[in-house]
Amino acid sequence: MSGLDASSAGGVLTRRRFFESLAAVGGMSLVLSGMEALGFSQASAAELPPELTGGAKNTKVVILGAGLAGMTAAYELSKAGYQVQVLEARSFAGGRCQTARKGFKHTDLIGHEQTCQFDDGHYINHGPWRIPYHHRSTLHYTKLFGVPLESFVNDNDAAYIYFEKGKGPLNGKPVRKGEVAADIRGYAAELVAKAASQGQLDAPLSGLDKERFVAYVVNEGRLSKDLAYKGTEGRGFSIHPGAGVDPGPGKELTPYAFKDVLDSNAWKVLSSVTGYEQQRTMLQPIGGMDQIAKAFEKQVGPMIRYGAVVEKIKQSPTGVTVAYKGADGKPAEVTADYCLCTIPLSVLKQIDVDASAPFKAAMEGVAYAPVNKIGLQMKNRFWEDKHHIYGGHIYTDLAGINSITLPSYGWQGQKGVLLGYYAFGGEAARISAKSPAERAAFAVAAGQKIFPEYADAYENAFSFSWHLAEYNLGGWAEWGETGRKDSYPVLCQPDGRLYLAGEHLSYLGGWQAGAIESAWQQIARIHARVQQA
Ligand code: ALA
Repeated sequence: MSGLDASSAGGVLTRRRFFESLAAVGGMSLVLSGMEALGFSQASAAELPPELTGGAKNTKVVILGAGLAGMTAAYELSKAGYQVQVLEARSFAGGRCQTARKGFKHTDLIGHEQTCQFDDGHYINHGPWRIPYHHRSTLHYTKLFGVPLESFVNDNDAAYIYFEKGKGPLNGKPVRKGEVAADIRGYAAELVAKAASQGQLDAPLSGLDKERFVAYVVNEGRLSKDLAYKGTEGRGFSIHPGAGVDPGPGKELTPYAFKDVLDSNAWKVLSSVTGYEQQRTMLQPIGGMDQIAKAFEKQVGPMIRYGAVVEKIKQSPTGVTVAYKGADGKPAEVTADYCLCTIPLSVLKQIDVDASAPFKAAMEGVAYAPVNKIGLQMKNRFWEDKHHIYGGHIYTDLAGINSITLPSYGWQGQKGVLLGYYAFGGEAARISAKSPAERAAFAVAAGQKIFPEYADAYENAFSFSWHLAEYNLGGWAEWGETGRKDSYPVLCQPDGRLYLAGEHLSYLGGWQAGAIESAWQQIARIHARVQQA
């Protein structure tokens, strides 16, 4: 952006002054338009795939892994004329972009075999399951390939918080998130409004319009005229208003006491959808996340060799040879000019890779997350019918459960599959050691603490532990500060003719957009090299 300060010749406006005048006239949006026109586009590099113009010059690329990074690269490179061969260890494409539905089979590294028994039309996304609106790279392909999307309810005021490690009367009791949110916000607003109007905040408010600030806080906390929080109808009624001559109690539910809400710890979940990666409403493909994988596979399927387990990556000054075990169990090789490897580092570091010592050392600089999910099929949708909760998360402080998520599809249908736990780290490792039947029993017992109908409605389960999944060995890469600083930049650069891509080589770890955008970055690099060669 240093060019912004450069003066134009001939006494005309400097660029800086030009932008200043645009800002004065039309604010930041006008500045951005002006910047774009001058080639200082603010648009994310991640918005669209790189344009690979200039020809592929008969270049062969072998891609390792048919996950979203690998298939993105295969799609874009082949479109640009490259000869692409993809090796995929599994019998299906998608990498972590998987959906379990009837007949889906999984055997984990402990040897637990499962075949999903869900009724037709039901599924669980045991890998990626939600798409933020700003993951424009993912949304680029869903639009391009015509993958229909629907809303993913990532926040629901009607959903419960169940904390049992706090104190007070709300502890160990399901309370609706909207009630906790309204009450804590209201009481906090009351404190601030009273302090401000009594002159106790004069120092921080000096220079601000105190009256407007108080008006804002009153509005925020829905306070009464005397600046008190007495509940709000937004948190719901004990008996909802209806027809007839009797207006019913029509009273706002009595708020929980300030102290009780604070003691319960339930307020801790309220910031969960205010981070960068989470929004109240997100997106999901209709019918399961693997619709994205299938859409890619439709484009690049013929380039994929399935059941090909990479055993060795060899390099020479002129090319790369990948030795693998084929689906028939026999050794085979493929040679190309370049290799784009999307194998997770947790797996790659166990493969014989012909790379420099610093590159190999860098592969050790990352940890992979233990992650568990379980889908529980319920014979009725009690959470909708009896509790009036349509999608969203039940937050808990139950070890090994963390949260329970209600499906964002099939509203008011007969049955439903809910996510019975989504847990990480040591707790995930502990539960994953159990048999699938024990994991299900654990999840059902926990859910029963929150919903009295849970155990009765339970029919069958499908559980998945990413750290126990062959070819993954973890949910996603977790870069610590040192790894991100020392190892990550090394792996973002090619080592000879070997390039790496995947969510692990992005700042969008654990997201499909990270996989796609790292593939975009690396194919642009390969292409630039081919153009120069
Ligand atoms: N991207 C992962 C999720 O949505 C971490 O939960």
